[in-house]
Amino acid sequence: MKTINRLAIALDTDDSVEALRWARDYREEFGYAKVGLELFMAEGPGIIYALRELGYRILLDLKMHDIPTTVGRAARVVGGYGVDLLTVHTAGGVPMLRAAVEGLAEGAVAAGLDFKPQALGVTFLTSDPAVDEAAFVARLDAAAEAGCGGYVCAAAEVELAKERHPELFALVPGIRFKGAQPDDQSRVATPAEALGMGADLIVIGRSVTRAADPDAALAMLRAEAAAF
Ligand code: C5P
Repeated sequence: MKTINRLAIALDTDDSVEALRWARDYREEFGYAKVGLELFMAEGPGIIYALRELGYRILLDLKMHDIPTTVGRAARVVGGYGVDLLTVHTAGGVPMLRAAVEGLAEGAVAAGLDFKPQALGVTFLTSDPAVDEAAFVARLDAAAEAGCGGYVCAAAEVELAKERHPELFALVPGIRFKGAQPDDQSRVATPAEALGMGADLIVIGRSVTRAADPDAALAMLRAEAAAF
């Protein structure tokens, strides 16, 4: 896999002008654009179409969690947007996750898309300071059982997750450069650590978008990613 397709830029802003400026500026460095709650609430699906026009694969990080019918029907709508990945919360349980998987696939088919979007099960947030291993495994297994294409976890959990479910896609947020402030994240890793531990895709937000010197941050990222 090309390394840029293992890197997602989190466009966490409520302003489409800023989001699209970042997206254009960082187009050569990242294969995926991550649209999260803030940007999606502000701009709706239009921002997804604009980012696709720029050639990005799309990670829509809505961490859906509701009754199965509601999630399934919402996921069906998302399937039609042309996103590649959608996050759903494993705490919702297997029937809810399965509804998301099925809804997403149905929506993509109904929209005539020629690729199959994948649901990723969020296990525990990277802002959680500590994670119980048994609880993590239970959530991971729920994602697998429901047919999710992958899961979201901290870098430190990827090895265990890959041993258990090698076929699933590992998405890892909570990325910080060495020595940087973790902000509200707890279980952080550097880009090289996370990629080295086997993350298929890492999410990088404020370390680049809010960096005092974004060019220097990108240079650091390029240097770390060069080994992969
Ligand atoms: O700015 P930073 O690199 O911390 O951004 C991380 C992004 O990844 C945020 O948009 C956050 O919502 C998201 N995320 C996370 N932890 C998860 C899942 C998603 O931090 N488990």
